[in-house]
Amino acid sequence: MTKYTSNVSDGPSTSAMSQYEEFAANYHWLYSDYVASGKPALEQHADVLKDAGPKARILDCSCGIGTFAIALAKLDYEVSGSDGSPGMIEQADLAARNANVEVPLRCSTWENLPAHVSGSFDVVFCLGNSIGHTRNGEEMVRSLQGIRAVLSSGGKLVIDSRNWEQIRKEKTRFTPYQWRERAGQRCLPIYVWNFPEKFEDPHTIEVLLVFDSDGKVSVRSYPIVYYPFRVEELTERLRSAGFTNFQNRFSENREGYRVIAS
Ligand SMILES: C[S@@+](CC[C@H](N)C(=O)[O-])C[C@H]1O[C@@H](n2cnc3c(N)ncnc32)[C@H](O)[C@@H]1O
Repeated sequence: MTKYTSNVSDGPSTSAMSQYEEFAANYHWLYSDYVASGKPALEQHADVLKDAGPKARILDCSCGIGTFAIALAKLDYEVSGSDGSPGMIEQADLAARNANVEVPLRCSTWENLPAHVSGSFDVVFCLGNSIGHTRNGEEMVRSLQGIRAVLSSGGKLVIDSRNWEQIRKEKTRFTPYQWRERAGQRCLPIYVWNFPEKFEDPHTIEVLLVFDSDGKVSVRSYPIVYYPFRVEELTERLRSAGFTNFQNRFSENREGYRVIAS
């Protein structure tokens, strides 16, 4: 298998991505089989894909274990994947081989994308609440600038995010998912949310994976840190990065939203 290395030696995002290194091989347990098929993401972004057309050049710039990029490749889109975590990219590589599709993959932070991916893209997706890993406004702007630099003129960036204000209003401590069964193993993913007093402070979600192998139970824990932001802050930072057009599906009471910027 290709060995991927990080292009960040000591950059500000190092810790954001190193938290995925150990998690990468078990990350798939977060997905139901349906989510793992990539179909929900295809449905969610069907409008963008339709507008872009079948020949669109697409980049999933936080591709994780490759789920969405692989689903797009199966539909014959010209799609590449990138992610700042070598471990996630290695899993994406493995998944693409297993699915028998070609997806060019690069390990790159958003800031460094222009140096690591070639060409320009009609659509760049940054999905799965990924942008919330940037640690402050400046880092987010630099990341968005890096992404914008690999977009074609008129190209679109599609970002999704948790609605942090709504999530902090509800302050649900535990989010259990459903038991999944794969390769003779059972796993129950549970999110344990920690809410610091201030909105701006780092929020840690402890991802617990409870494994049951014939009644023998074991637990793995992966703490993942996010830096909440408001939808207005995201728009402001997109503007600072040079984006001028926005479509926003924000609604106060919903847990998540999507912004399309060009
Ligand atoms: C929550 S995961 C989402 C993965 C995938 N998009 C999904 O929906 O499952 C966040 C991803 O963002 C990546 N990431 C975090 N900071 C990054 C950065 N500065 N540059 C590139 N990727 C980054 C992580 O390595 C991780 O794979």
